[in-house]
Amino acid sequence: MESLPRLSFVSCIALLAYFAFLASAEHHVRQFVIAPRPVTRLCRTHQSITVNGQFPGPTLEVRNGDSVAITVINRARYNISIHWHGLRQMRNPWADGPEYITQCPIRPGQSYTYKFTIEDQEGTLWWHAHSRWLRATVYGALIIYPRLGSPYPFVMPKRDIPILLGEWWDRNPMDVLRQAQFTGAAANVSDAYTINGQPGDLYRCSRAGTMRFPIFPGETVQLRVINAGMNQELFFSVANHQLTVVETDSAYTKPFTTNVIMLGPGQTTNVLITANQRPGRYYMAARAYNSANAPFDNTTTTAILQYVNAPTRRGRGRGRGQMAPVFPVLPGFNDTATATAFTNRLRYWKRAPVPQQIDENLFFTVGLGLINCANPNSPRCQGPNGTRFAASINNMSFVLPRRNSVMQAYYQGMPGIFTTDFPPVPPVQFDYTGNVSRALWQPIKGTKAYKLKYRANVQIVLQDTSIVTPENHPMHLHGYQFYVVGSGFGNFNPRTDPARFNLFDPPERNTIGTPPGGWVAIRFVADNPGAWFMHCHIDSHLGWGLAMVFLVENGRGRLQSVQAPPLDLPRC
Ligand code: C2O
Repeated sequence: MESLPRLSFVSCIALLAYFAFLASAEHHVRQFVIAPRPVTRLCRTHQSITVNGQFPGPTLEVRNGDSVAITVINRARYNISIHWHGLRQMRNPWADGPEYITQCPIRPGQSYTYKFTIEDQEGTLWWHAHSRWLRATVYGALIIYPRLGSPYPFVMPKRDIPILLGEWWDRNPMDVLRQAQFTGAAANVSDAYTINGQPGDLYRCSRAGTMRFPIFPGETVQLRVINAGMNQELFFSVANHQLTVVETDSAYTKPFTTNVIMLGPGQTTNVLITANQRPGRYYMAARAYNSANAPFDNTTTTAILQYVNAPTRRGRGRGRGQMAPVFPVLPGFNDTATATAFTNRLRYWKRAPVPQQIDENLFFTVGLGLINCANPNSPRCQGPNGTRFAASINNMSFVLPRRNSVMQAYYQGMPGIFTTDFPPVPPVQFDYTGNVSRALWQPIKGTKAYKLKYRANVQIVLQDTSIVTPENHPMHLHGYQFYVVGSGFGNFNPRTDPARFNLFDPPERNTIGTPPGGWVAIRFVADNPGAWFMHCHIDSHLGWGLAMVFLVENGRGRLQSVQAPPLDLPRC
């Protein structure tokens, strides 16, 4: 008698699980129409390049295991390509997006369909244009939920709020770039930071648009914070509320609470926040963490966390009915101690499969440089002391090819586009973070890749230099997630520092900042064949050449080679 109902219960569950499985691999078909559209900020209207007329662009919501086909139709006057930042794109570099690295750009009037599958990834990522400075306005959130029925390693709140931090210029960003490229000087800093496209209460003509997020007393929500800014690391904080960090760059972390988080451009951080304060209105705010000795945008963007039962104020006119929001305490602009303390608290949520033996031990100096001019101080040499700014890895300043993309040239066996002699160590050793001789400030330009064997265990020590200025460089690797096994200030010491590496639960990321005047060590397994860009996610540094390419060879087995390119892949 007893077993009959139980049997049907079990078979019911099995049936449900089966349907869940069928339903779990969804196919998403989307169109991204790239076109100018009037956007008004800071009292002025610009024809901003947008996706489907939206700024920021549409949020992509998918599940682990889903497949996606996004047709990008270019109705703007610029070449463009779209990158799905942090997606591994296994054996599928064709869908990665960086122009002249894995594809030629999509020309005005043309289109290209990005087809990819989400394989073993969940969390917060984002997408952005990967073509000159178009990503200033062409970006959006990419949220990957776990497979149906697959749990989170923490109690997941019912509500999720994407917080996209951006940078706004009161000019066409492409003109800002063009001017900098011409003069060789640093590009103008932004005029505002934004939260979900809105500068917030502290800027002219912006109050009406300030983002407001209603919250119920006692409720816990998850903020998916994304630094989509072009050139600036940002501190982010919410007045009177603790943030519990649960994920960075689509990898879960051991939860910990903090008052402030720091994100470099490209990084994402998920935090839980509970409405456990007096009913009221609280600012969330972001402003610069500036580690360099250089001009920066020192303004502050805000949005309002608003308790639905917040008391109102009697009266008339402006501001009637609402109390002024409480403002958070933000660290000082150059508070490297707070930035470092935050980053150093991150731990992978469980034991991480970190490579223990290393096949490729790479040491990369990353930093700025200056190109000397035949005619110093001429219109094209407006950088420091009449030079032009540059940046490099191991003294190689990366130049994008023009006639073809690296990946297409590699696949087709077309010579003359790039070489594979990228140096695994700096050409000369020096005191990287000391007082560097001017003779070492000028890098060499070139388009060089470094070859990796399939499944090689790779370690890279990224060493910041003090050339021009020490700085936090948010280094991003395409096609991979890596473990951040160690970091420190000053010069990396290969004899003593590795002993202190965390090979147990180091955080997994796709973008990590070099401590200013310091180093950071990362490890990964080269299990994804293809051409993968590694670069500083500060776009002005990228433009100056702070980049290189890894060419990961095919393996021998099934599903170990790069897929055939799609037929509509743009040609140069
Ligand atoms: Cu998010 Cu190569 O970039």
